[in-house]
Order: sequence, then structure tokens, then C-alpha cells
Amino acid sequence: MQDDVRISCLSGFEGKPVTIRGWLAGRRTGGKIVFLLIRDGSGFCQAVVEASSPDAFSNAQSAGLESSLAITGTVRRDERAPGQFEIAVSELHVIQNVRDYPIARKSHGIDFLMSHRHLWLRSRIPWTILRVRHTVISACREFMNRRGFVLVDTPILVGGAGEDTRSLFPVDYFGEKAFLTQTGQLYLESACMALGKVYCFGPTFRAEKSKTRRHLCEFWMLEPEAAFASLDDVIQLAGDLICHVVGAVLKEHSADLEAIGRDVKPLCNIAKPFVRLTYSEAVELLRSEQTRIRLETDMAHGRTRLQYLADELEKAEKRLASASKQNQKDSAGAKIVSLREEIAELEAELAAMPEHLRLAQSFQWGNDLGGSDETIVSRSFERPVFVTHYPREAKAFYMKLDPENPRVVLNMDLLAPEGYGEIIGGSQREDDPDRLVERMREKGLNPEDYSWYLDLRKYGSVPHSGFGLGIERLVAWITGRRHVRETIPFPRTLGRFTP
Ligand code: 4AD
Ligand code: MG
Repeated sequence: MQDDVRISCLSGFEGKPVTIRGWLAGRRTGGKIVFLLIRDGSGFCQAVVEASSPDAFSNAQSAGLESSLAITGTVRRDERAPGQFEIAVSELHVIQNVRDYPIARKSHGIDFLMSHRHLWLRSRIPWTILRVRHTVISACREFMNRRGFVLVDTPILVGGAGEDTRSLFPVDYFGEKAFLTQTGQLYLESACMALGKVYCFGPTFRAEKSKTRRHLCEFWMLEPEAAFASLDDVIQLAGDLICHVVGAVLKEHSADLEAIGRDVKPLCNIAKPFVRLTYSEAVELLRSEQTRIRLETDMAHGRTRLQYLADELEKAEKRLASASKQNQKDSAGAKIVSLREEIAELEAELAAMPEHLRLAQSFQWGNDLGGSDETIVSRSFERPVFVTHYPREAKAFYMKLDPENPRVVLNMDLLAPEGYGEIIGGSQREDDPDRLVERMREKGLNPEDYSWYLDLRKYGSVPHSGFGLGIERLVAWITGRRHVRETIPFPRTLGRFTP
């Protein structure tokens, strides 16, 4: 492992000689000077190589993008340099010179990038997202540990459904049928009767047969479960957890987020109390005149923005046609690709909006909220929204019926703002053995398959509650990425499980 100085701590070495080992992420040439963009995993920095160091200068000119290298030089402050410190290079040793790195400066489409995910991870945006994900996960663990929750690792190979029977991945278990786990919850419920307050954090699997921006086939979930906790208790816990995680990310990564175009202002406003609505109130909101007006205003704004983007695209295309220098061509080319992507996305969004409006306005009590409904509800507020008390037919068998209104369950979904939608799902659990069996039958599950789980209701059953937080959806919201596939290192989606 390297004990060299890392780029992230260059500021402590102003005026001193350092050696950095890393990769070449970019280059600009200006006559007798070459500006290299170097990355070493901890950050990006500019390295300046002058013709007065002839060996380093010729290496700097000939190294291809993503060549591995070691540079030695003096750290100096330069306000214009990314990170405000740069290295005046005296020696440059190329470890491996690379030709034709597949992901060149120019932008590529998402399918190409996903097929090169093993290399794409090195680029600035994925690199930033992975570091934010690391902070999110360590903040989650830190929060649970400090609150006295004990980590319990639940199995990945399981005998039956933990959520629903439609999205199970079957596995051959020495001739018997097993499945990849959808949730650690049922095991956590037994562990919480042993340890009081427990959590698990691990990969979970759902055979999601549709392509949406919110669904992965393999995702990571943090699940706390607490004995003697009510629905209200876990609503408080979830709110505290989200505030803690957002605070930790803002502390560590505000500059990183801004560097990838995430406006951090909405995140700075995240504070308790979060909004609380019952499902029935959410349905009223969806059907309201206010929602119709909001969506129509959004559509009008969208069309204005589309016109603006089309004008910008035309300007960029003219710039490209008249550019003489390579860096002008690169920058106009990259602008064109990003404008085209935004235009395509906005067009798709605008095309779908009339249907989303129709779905919202004709929403039938009893259905689960769809993705577009969640978007509408979450965009109606600046803070996260807890939606509670869903109809029993829309939710899983283990959720406790509301004693005051058994048409609904004691559950909550937490919707992230800015249209992100559900990031947490949780509930108080059915603690009555007879009602639990009845609910299993209602959902087409065979109680005999759950005999061990039913034992928990026979031997010292107590009220208890918990929830699951989807890490990728949380990271997508925090980093401002539209699609969850960018927030997990190697996404598994419908039709893709490589690289
Ligand atoms: O709402 P879900 O399905 O709840 C459960 O699995 C409960 N057993 C959790 C519990 O109470 N212990 O999933 C919880 C969260 C969702 O809110 C979402 O953030 C995420 O997991 N999630 C997914 N993320 C990405 N892709 C998918 N296919 C997801 N399905 C759920
Ligand atoms: Mg859910």
C-alpha cells in the first residue's frame, strides 16, 4: 500500500516536495508547458510540467489518458487550480503508458458507460457518488450503534418470501428450492426478541421485471427493528436517522456535491419535524385542484426550459462548427452531449406528465401509491413526508392492522423531497398470532411455511416495529442523481448483471 502523500491532503504540504502515485485523468498543453490532471483515488489535482524539465516534459506529452504514473514535485497554492493546490513537477515516471482508453473525454451514452462500469468508476461523478455512499453507510452504522442497536447479520439464502411472492429470485439449494432474501426483517424480528434493539445492513434482492429509475434487482438495505416500539417510535427514529445522515454528508462533501452539480440548499433545509400525512390525506392531495394547477404550471415551465435548452444546443453546435482548437471542440462537444441528454429526459418527462396527472386525479382509494404519485406528493413539500396508514390490501402481511380502523395498517413510507419518492418503508408488526395467520392467508401465503416466524407470536409476543431504508435511493436523492443505477458500484437491473 502507498504511504505517499495523497492529493486530498496536499494543502498541508505547501512549499514542500511530494511524490504522488496515480493516473492521468486529463491534459492541456500550452506551448512550453503541460497541465496534467492527476487522480490518486483521494482526489484530483493539477500537475504543471515545464519544458525546463525535459524528461518529465516529454513523458507528460506522450502519456495516454489513464496511464499510471508517479510524479514528484513541489506543492504550491494556485487559486485557479482545482482544489487550490497544484504540483510543479520535477520528475514524472510512467508506470504503464496507456493507448486508447475507451472512455475518452467526450461524453458517451449511458449504455456504453454502464458496459464500461469497471472503468467508468474512475470518472469524477461516479467517484464522487461512491465516496458519498461510503459516508452515508458509515453515518447509518454510527447512528444505529450510538442508539444502542445491535448489529445482527441476517441470511441471504432463505426459504420463503419476506415481502411478496412475485419478486423472488429462486436458487437451487442442493435440489431444494431456496430464494435470495428480499429483506432481513423476519429474522430481525426474532433477533429483537433476544436483543431488544437490532439492525441489519446487507444486500437484498428483488426480481423487478420493469425498468424504472427507482428499482434495482440487487440493493442494500439498512433495517432496524425494536421490541416495544410503536409506529410513532420508528417514525421518530427514521427522522433522526435521515437528519444525521444528511448532516454527515453535508459536513464531509458539500464541495464534492457542488462539483457534480448538486445544489445543496434543499439538503441544508432538512430538519425535523418532517411532514406527516395519512394515506387518505395523500389521496385527497393527489385528486385536488391544487395538484392539477401545480402539474399544469410545471408543464408550462418545462416547455419554457425545453425552448431554452434548444437555443443553447444551437449555440453549442455553432461553437463546435467554428472551433479551431482541440480543447474548444472537446468542450463544445461535451456541452452538446449533456444538452441532448437533458432535452431527451425533459421531453420524456413532459410527455408522461398528462398521464401522471390523469392517474393522480383518478386515484382510487385502496391502491398502492405509484412512482408518479409519490413524485407528486413529495414535490408538494420541501421536507421529507411520512405517509402513514395505507389500506391493508396494498401492504405486506406482517403489518399490524390499525385497531381503530382495520381497513388500514400501522405503517409508514418516507418520501424524500424534490420528487425522489419512497426511501423508507416500515411499520408496526402484527403481534397477534391469529390475525397474523389470517393476514398470511389473505395474501396467499401458507402459514405452515412460516412456522418459526409464528413461534415469535406464541412465546412472549410484544408490540414491535421497524423499517427498511434503501441505501441507493437515499444516495440518489442526496447526490441528485435521477436513477438509482448510478448509486451502487455495479448495478444489477432488468437485463444487466455485468460487469
Ligand atoms: O418497502 P420495502 O419493500 O420494505 C421492506 O422490505 C421491509 N421488510 C423493511 C422493514 O420494515 N424492515 O423496502 C424498503 C426500502 C424502500 O423504501 C426502498 O428504499 C428500498 O428498500 N427498495 C428498493 N431500492 C432499490 N430497488 C428496489 N427494487 C427496492 N425495493 C425496495
Ligand atoms: Mg415499500
